[in-house]
Amino acid sequence: MTPSQMIRVPFGAAFALALAVSTLAANDDAVPEHPTFSRDVLPIMQRSCQTCHRPNMFTPMSLLTYDEVRPWARAIKQRVEARIMPPWFADRTVGVYRDDPSLSETEIATVARWVDQGAPRGNATDAPPPLEWPAVDTWYHGEEPDLVITSPPVVVPPNSTETFPEPELPTGLTEDRYIKWIQVMPGESQVVHHVLIYAVMGGADAEDTGGGPRRVRELLANRARGDFAGDYFEDGYARLLRKDDLIRFQLHYLPDDEQSFVDQTRVGIKLYPKGYVPEYVVTTKAVSNRDLIIPPGDANVRSDAYFTLREPARIISFQPHMHYRGKGMTLEAIRPSDGQPELLSDVNRFAWDWQPTYVYETPLTLPAGTVMHVTAYHDNSAANRVNPDPTAAVGWGDRTIDEMNIGWLDYFYIPEDEFAALQPE
Ligand code: HEC
Repeated sequence: MTPSQMIRVPFGAAFALALAVSTLAANDDAVPEHPTFSRDVLPIMQRSCQTCHRPNMFTPMSLLTYDEVRPWARAIKQRVEARIMPPWFADRTVGVYRDDPSLSETEIATVARWVDQGAPRGNATDAPPPLEWPAVDTWYHGEEPDLVITSPPVVVPPNSTETFPEPELPTGLTEDRYIKWIQVMPGESQVVHHVLIYAVMGGADAEDTGGGPRRVRELLANRARGDFAGDYFEDGYARLLRKDDLIRFQLHYLPDDEQSFVDQTRVGIKLYPKGYVPEYVVTTKAVSNRDLIIPPGDANVRSDAYFTLREPARIISFQPHMHYRGKGMTLEAIRPSDGQPELLSDVNRFAWDWQPTYVYETPLTLPAGTVMHVTAYHDNSAANRVNPDPTAAVGWGDRTIDEMNIGWLDYFYIPEDEFAALQPE
């Protein structure tokens, strides 16, 4: 790797450069001469693979033990070197993310060398103790939720086409309440590809505004494959759930090759006590531009969307949402003081069937008047292997064969004095 490949300098993103240095390039001295499974590879599997590759998950194999991993050694090397596994598509040199499972160059080189040397087990006493994973069907945060809303049963026959049912259900709340945590629990995770949970205006509000997407108040939760903990808010932080809101499930079913399933997915919501008023109310903004025009065959179609922060704010996370033709998405902040765009995230290898949320290690603090700039890139060429029809002109729409260019931002506003206190010297 040459230095110019390593350090991709975006316009004005000096801070990204500073972060870049530590994560770049394999440090060859750090790659063991004779890596073993027990000492060198298992710790990597525990951190970056086993969340998904364990029994009863939606993955083709478990990677908990040597005997389970060994037959997959070649495939593991290939997927890891291509950065297909673990599924994580943000440039590692831009931004610092919580629970980032992606592998460093040194880790990738370690796995590759281990495979090239015959994938030896090594000394069992070098191995870290096995991790204890929560059962697939437990509420992650240890207690029972106050509300459990269950989607109606859906039959998913083998070898059928993908379906996207969107049932809406009432919460039964009689007053507005604040959410402490929210977790989606698929019934049959083999066929539940992802689930989005929205709060949708019910009651009188709904009559005012009519049907369709405008009724969506907020994205409450989003479960991509491998993300089973849901959203948990520290005391003082919460999401609002209004009493008349309906819960809309947006379920994406990807049928199995052989087996039929009947899924009922649940969403569990733990509420703060009645009367609790949080200091900060977290909301989600869809930064998008519906004037999306994607000509046939075009491999790099750019679209831009903007959202201005009314007050000083802290940004918790960024999640790009596009469909088959999605290729990449960046998030920039343009501060009112200097008007210089600062690159916050660069999801440059977007893959439509994985849509992780990129949670910043520390929420980003931005002044009032900052413009959040989302740039989406779509590939409508035949070279895009998942493109269903490179001859079609494509615009905004709900179906996966239509397109979207949403950058979801989770954020909350803070008072000016708190903003001032958070500024570096
Ligand atoms: C977020 C969940 C998730 C994580 C984390 C993850 N995988 Fe996977 N992996 C999958 C799924 C789902 C598949 C099957 C579908 C596919 O290939 O996309 C898969 C497929 C694979 C395959 C191909 C299997 C085949 O059938 O050929 C390999 C090899 C693999 N993973 C290795 C790894 C390794 C090594 C890691 C960690 C460095 C890892 N995965 C992390 C979900 C995950």
